[in-house]
Amino acid sequence: MSRIARLSDVLINKIAAGEVVERPASVVKELVENAIDAGAGTIRVELDGGGVDRIIVSDDGHGMGRTDAVACLERHATSKLRELDDLFHIDSMGFRGEAIPAIASVSRFTLHSAATNSEVGTRVSVEGGGPPLVEDAPPRTGTVITVEDLFFNVPARRKFLRRGDTELKHAEEAVVRLALAYPEVGFFASHEGGALFSSAACPDDPRERIAAALGSTAHPHLFPVEERRLGVAVTGYAASPEFTFNNARGLYTFVNRRYIRDRGLIGTIQRAYQDFLAAGRQPVVVLHIDVDPRAVDVNVHPQKQEVRFADARGVQEAVTAALSRMLRAAPWLGSGVEGAAPQAGQPMDAAHYAHAVERFLTRAQEAAWGGPLPTAMDAPGPGPGTPSLGALGQGARPGALPFAAAVGQAPAFGQAQPQLNEAPPPGYFGALRPLGMLGGRFHVCEGPGGTLVVMDPHAALERARLTGYLRALESGKPPPAPTLFGTSLELPVAAAKALVEGREALSRLGFDVEPFGGTTVALKTVPPGLEGADARSLLEALARALPPKSATLDTVSLAEAVRVMACHAAKQAGAVPLSDAQFRALLGELDRADFHPTCSHGTVVVLEMPLLELERRAR
Ligand SMILES: Nc1ncnc2c1ncn2[C@@H]1O[C@H](COP(=O)(O)OP(=O)(O)OP(=O)(O)O)[C@@H](O)[C@H]1O
Ligand SMILES: [Mg+2]
Repeated sequence: MSRIARLSDVLINKIAAGEVVERPASVVKELVENAIDAGAGTIRVELDGGGVDRIIVSDDGHGMGRTDAVACLERHATSKLRELDDLFHIDSMGFRGEAIPAIASVSRFTLHSAATNSEVGTRVSVEGGGPPLVEDAPPRTGTVITVEDLFFNVPARRKFLRRGDTELKHAEEAVVRLALAYPEVGFFASHEGGALFSSAACPDDPRERIAAALGSTAHPHLFPVEERRLGVAVTGYAASPEFTFNNARGLYTFVNRRYIRDRGLIGTIQRAYQDFLAAGRQPVVVLHIDVDPRAVDVNVHPQKQEVRFADARGVQEAVTAALSRMLRAAPWLGSGVEGAAPQAGQPMDAAHYAHAVERFLTRAQEAAWGGPLPTAMDAPGPGPGTPSLGALGQGARPGALPFAAAVGQAPAFGQAQPQLNEAPPPGYFGALRPLGMLGGRFHVCEGPGGTLVVMDPHAALERARLTGYLRALESGKPPPAPTLFGTSLELPVAAAKALVEGREALSRLGFDVEPFGGTTVALKTVPPGLEGADARSLLEALARALPPKSATLDTVSLAEAVRVMACHAAKQAGAVPLSDAQFRALLGELDRADFHPTCSHGTVVVLEMPLLELERRAR
């Protein structure tokens, strides 16, 4: 007697169902895909009991006449593939002719359909893959399929269905994925009569669909992305870094309109955003990758969720290029820059942006110096002609990269070396395009060739003032227009003594200080720029900085005092954020100043990140 017998079709279908039908969501997916393949304009999905009790999918597509309505229940019956060659350029969602028989083998299945303009429709009912009951039914537009009691005849499977609304969530997600892939089709889904997802066809603005899926607050943050290369088109929408989720649920990728979850592709997207997002945040991106159907194999995964690209690298590069262009254009800065008030509904999330740039600079620095960040305490002190790696701000933050200018000769950002830092070309600062403030403190500008330029206004002011005071001293003339000040202060003995003894030095610098009895001094005039300075701390600092009585008074012996003046002048000017006009005036001053990459405390005045480097890091 023969040992081998052919399995019955019912059994074969049930086995196939094990692969195709995992849960209610898989049924929803297969039936909605069929509706899309049938050219539906509107698809309705009604669920009961999380989809386990009932799934009804109705469409207004081309429908089926009686013959097809019966044939579609046979395994490997499909209208979508005819020849082997077709398998290599699939342009429909379905192609195996497996879904309907598989679903019908594990449920109570009813199909009601009619061919377009037919006067009679057909109803086919199947219980657990048994013989179909075929009958005439009223004509209708399109098809409606009802799947009840999923896995009623496969208890092992039914047992594995999740409780609560887990199955419902999966089913809803199946609808959302298809809805995002097909914005030109209207989708309406409900559960036990209550709306789950509704979105009318929106062929003109797919952002409406994304907003329906991810929340209406996403809409204003979505920006189009596009990159077309030979053989691959990347299109879609990506949210600016201010709209993020704490998980990857806002990441949707479609290949030839098929939802896929490919780890490589997701990784590529995450890398494009990594310098812009805070730790633990995930971007929101709905990306469509369209390639020649011959250049992608969609037949590598039972649920068709993975694909194999002929040119995976090319696809990855196109995705990176599309996203980095959008991120580089920084459209979300939009109304937030140049002092304009943010528009309603489009708040500029300064904190997010500040964080992004900070991360970006931190990474750049780590790359440049090949190690962890030096702390403010590690920062070397200032030394004449020694551009130092100092804190961006007075001891407030770890270090940052010094300026590497001389556009055209500048080393790549990641290779900046202290000895290569040099003064920028003439007119560099005046040509910067201010973009706005960062963290309420730094000024961010666009530099030549799209470089990112971050300036510490305090350090810049100090650098500019230092030049002004030094030039005045060098000229030997008294500083212009000293300001009448007129205040008297009681100071510590040593300070009062040093100031009185240093009166000549002080007068060279533009101060008029007179003894006023005891340890009190009268400060009568101050050089320009120090009118609003805190007189006590200024005088105490000057007392420490003045040269000894015996010293010759020249720019060398007075350098420390000039530094104190510049520092106090900058502190005073920088106490409130600079207005646009003040910042522009400062840029002009910097062009005239003897530029040095750090202020006298070693604080970096300006940081530059070349566009090329930005692009490289954005990959
Ligand atoms: N809603 C529908 N409207 C019109 N025709 C349909 C509909 N659903 C199914 N069909 C027809 O039934 C056939 C079988 O559908 P089924 O989903 O089993 O296979 P498929 O879509 O061809 O391939 P796959 O198994 O990959 O989904 C389809 O090829 C199609 O001709
Ligand atoms: Mg199908």
